[in-house]
Amino acid sequence: MRLFKRAAALQAYLRYQSEQGATIGFVPTMGALHEGHFELLRHSMKDNTLTVCSIFVNPTQFNDMRDLAHYPRMPEKDIAALARLGCEVLFMPFESEIYPEGLDAPPPQVALMGLDQTMEGIHRPGHFKGVVQVVHRLLQIVQPHRLYMGQKDYQQYRIVQHMVEQLALPVQVAMVPIVRQADGLALSSRNLRLSPKARAAAPRIYQVLKEVLAYVSRHPDADLAQLSQKAMDQLNAPPLKPEYFSIVNGTTLQPVRHLNEAESVVACTAVWAEDVRLIDNMILKWPQPIHATE
Ligand code: PAJ
Repeated sequence: MRLFKRAAALQAYLRYQSEQGATIGFVPTMGALHEGHFELLRHSMKDNTLTVCSIFVNPTQFNDMRDLAHYPRMPEKDIAALARLGCEVLFMPFESEIYPEGLDAPPPQVALMGLDQTMEGIHRPGHFKGVVQVVHRLLQIVQPHRLYMGQKDYQQYRIVQHMVEQLALPVQVAMVPIVRQADGLALSSRNLRLSPKARAAAPRIYQVLKEVLAYVSRHPDADLAQLSQKAMDQLNAPPLKPEYFSIVNGTTLQPVRHLNEAESVVACTAVWAEDVRLIDNMILKWPQPIHATE
């Protein structure tokens, strides 16, 4: 595996590879890699001749500076795991490579059309502006053919897809389904911080999401606002405390009342398990079979 810390060196290498006919898949991450990240990488390695993974803990997407300071960093372990997996290129840039004009440089002008004003956007002000800023810059450097994002962060996936459409960037955005533990808990680097009691309760989130999916499968005309409220009640049992449970149009991210109001419908939730905030979601309706790269 080749490791680059400077954008210019990476670009020179990728330009050479493209000239040789390589297709480039890109998986941006913030490190502390787990099976969820590896699944994105496997999809990229299957679809492309060359896969670039980036590890960069992006300061502009943290609205809580303590969260940034505590973000897990384990570069040696990540490098070894990526090499074992067979990832060809790792980009671990210095901050000055991503933000040559400093952190306050204006982000790309993309009208987010309210996509950042719901769910995570309400609870993490400024977060998605930071995500758009860093993914845009990374795409500018890597110029991949395909970009892989996890369904785990559905709102992030949708916002990145919207940015790519708005700026007409020549990259295909693929969504990779959520990787879970055997008991249903979605993998996340935050899971490491769960106490035994919170860890034991956390799979309830997936159970409630599955119950919602089962219910709408049997009752396609169900009132989704009522169903969301019921799910909130079911999740409201210590040590869990739900922050939101929203059933939204998968394109606009606005709440929908009935399945037939949108082509795609996703149930999204954020739940506190003691002092750890977990997010998860379930697709209730999708226009075509879900393939990561279609
Ligand atoms: P990070 O949290 O490291 O996640 C990197 C990618 O892995 C994201 O696309 C995320 O959705 C995906 N992912 C995480 N857990 C997953 C799981 N259990 N199943 C499937 N995919 C999973 O998301 C970020 O980093 C950053 O915001 C980033 C996009 C890199 C911009 O800084």
